[in-house]
Formats: sequence, C-alpha cells, structure tokens
Amino acid sequence: MKDKINVIFVCLGNICRSPMAEFLFKKMTKSKGYVISSAATSYEEEGSPLHYGTRRILDRLGIEYSGFSAHRLTKAECDDADYLIGMEQSNLSGIKRICGRENEYKVHRLLDFTDFPHDIADPWYTHDFDTTYREISLGLTAFLKATEGEK
Ligand code: 4NP
Repeated sequence: MKDKINVIFVCLGNICRSPMAEFLFKKMTKSKGYVISSAATSYEEEGSPLHYGTRRILDRLGIEYSGFSAHRLTKAECDDADYLIGMEQSNLSGIKRICGRENEYKVHRLLDFTDFPHDIADPWYTHDFDTTYREISLGLTAFLKATEGEK
C-alpha cells in the first residue's frame, strides 16, 4: 500500500490535454491519495498558460487552474512518478525517451484504462475541446477505478 500515488499526465505541448486531465483529476479526487501534475514531451509551449479551449472547459465547470505554466517533463519527475499517463501513442515514445528504460513500466495511455482504448486526438489541431473533455473524463474515471485500491 502506498501513501500517495504520484501521477503525471503528459501530452505534446502541456497546454491543452494534459493540464485538462490534471485539473479534472484534482477536482475528481480532491487530490486525496494522489499527487497530480502534468507535463509536455516538447519544449514548444514552455512557460505558456493554458490554451483558451481548455480554459473555457475548466471555467464552465468552475475548476481552478491559476498559476499554471507549461513545462517539459524532466527525468527527475519520471523517477518520482508512479504513473506517467500519455494522451496518444506518440506521447508514449516521447515519455520513454525522457524517462529511460527503468521507468517504462510506469508509462500508459489514458484510454487504455477504458473498454475502448484509443488515442485522444490533439485539440490543437481538431479545435474540438468538447470531445477532448468527454474522452479525458472517461479515461480518468477508469484510471481512478484501476488505481484507488492501491492506496
Ligand atoms: P497538447 O496540444 O499537446 O494537447 O497541449 C498541443 C499544444 C501545442 C502544440 C502541439 C500540441 N504545439 O505544437 O505548440
């Protein structure tokens, strides 16, 4: 049994999908039993605030995200994490490149926890943040169910 499960949600830019997952999961769990953060596999948006589309979803739900700033995943974060959760297949290879072989067992794709495993499309390209929200919510519910017994 662990005291807290450390989970990092990861996407390409850390401004759309992974922070949406971070703040939704913080709300779902009230952070009880989990240490929750998010990060990017690229430096594209280093230091950027949330994308407007993700802000709009979180604002609608009254979810707090102040002080957020995008950052690239670090090796130290990988070493501390229990779960490194990517949004699509290409994130998984990016995570593994940063985290090394010794952390590979921590790497999962969010919707692989559901009965309908697939990639969460990048809303940076689709502009469809409502679909992103629905898919991330399904994934988080499944992830919570899969892990809450570990604590
Ligand atoms: P995200 O979306 O990976 O869901 O945060 C993206 C945001 C920015 C870029 C790509 C994807 N970009 O290339 O800057």
